Amino acid sequence: MPGTLPLTWWPYPGTSIRASNVPAVTGWLATLERRAQLRARAGLTRRLRPRAPGEPVTDLAGNDYLGLTRHPEVVAAAAEALTGYGLGATGSRLVRGTTDAHTALEQELADWLGAEQALVYSSGYLANLGVLTGLVRPRTRIVTDAHNHASLVDGCRLSGAETVVVPHADPAAVAAALADAKGRPALVVTESVFSVDGDLAPLAELHQITRAHGAVLVVDDAHGLGLLGPAGAGGVVAAGLAGEPDVVVTATLSKALGGAGGVVAGPAALIRHLVDTGRTFIYDTAPPPAVVAGVRAAVRLARAGDSLRAELRERAAAAVTRLATAGLTPSTPAAGILSVPAPDAEAAVAWANRCAARRVAVGCFRPPSTPDNTSRLRLTINVGVPRGDFDAALDVVVEAAP
Ligand SMILES: Cc1ncc(COP(=O)(O)O)c(C=O)c1O
Repeated sequence: MPGTLPLTWWPYPGTSIRASNVPAVTGWLATLERRAQLRARAGLTRRLRPRAPGEPVTDLAGNDYLGLTRHPEVVAAAAEALTGYGLGATGSRLVRGTTDAHTALEQELADWLGAEQALVYSSGYLANLGVLTGLVRPRTRIVTDAHNHASLVDGCRLSGAETVVVPHADPAAVAAALADAKGRPALVVTESVFSVDGDLAPLAELHQITRAHGAVLVVDDAHGLGLLGPAGAGGVVAAGLAGEPDVVVTATLSKALGGAGGVVAGPAALIRHLVDTGRTFIYDTAPPPAVVAGVRAAVRLARAGDSLRAELRERAAAAVTRLATAGLTPSTPAAGILSVPAPDAEAAVAWANRCAARRVAVGCFRPPSTPDNTSRLRLTINVGVPRGDFDAALDVVVEAAP
């Protein structure tokens, strides 16, 4: 019917949009155009911004927390493997063979994380899909935190398991959802450091509850690995859960390690199961050897990077002080992420644009990338940014605020 839309497909719950002024259109491309118009009205259009090498922009948006992506040792290791192996892995590891670099990285990651074994994937997203789809059995209940990353959400969906979304960082709600599972197999899924607000999950408490119910705790340590715990071994190690037989760790190699790829670490039987049955491992081309070699160098540097971590903590605290002093309300960063609420999606975009115009890159998070339909700027700490530029960038964020 002209002028109306069946809002059942509208993918942004909580956003109020009236479709009455949208012109009638037909055909699938016209339908997409119409949906683009609706997104534009809600301030939800996403734009790809060009990025040139060496552009004079201060990075408060990326996840290169320890500044390792351009570290000379990382680049040299990747360059050497690039010469040796060429650009790509040329196939999955089961089909094409596994390189020394992949095997060595897995051993080093397992050692660092205190896990029996580790398995690398071509992305953290695929690691999460692989674990969640691989671990469910016919009657499994998944209990998942409301703030979990999209890759965990999609893993729950793809697994087909009954999924209970519990309020954020609420162990009592997790316990109730597990009790209600009445002895069925269960997984509890959480991030360690949450990717939008940067707060820390109550991992030790979640593990106690999970164990009491005979369930498995899956922790995505994407934003904790390299930053928390002894030698930066991550949020799970920091919580005293290294090597626990009912804990599975996933992480991306693209954040503090500055590369690309994902990892699952846990008991040897889990890794064997994923190699034998995990579709996102079996049917996916392996991460390129050059990236794997670069990540190995990054792991060495991250393990020895206590001074980088101290600098990161100091900058996170300085950022909170600067923003709060200006009357803004930043979240409390457990590691390298903090967020600052904006009045609405359009205000968030305008704020980020004003920062970009002054050569400061910030993250702009709007629904559906936020867990609660609140838009905000997300600021990340990159200790590779010179300190003076970092402080000046915080001034820009404050001056550009709505
Ligand atoms: C918490 C979390 N998990 C998983 C991912 C996905 O990792 P990747 O980018 O390697 O696919 C991200 C972001 O990229 C993330 O923030």
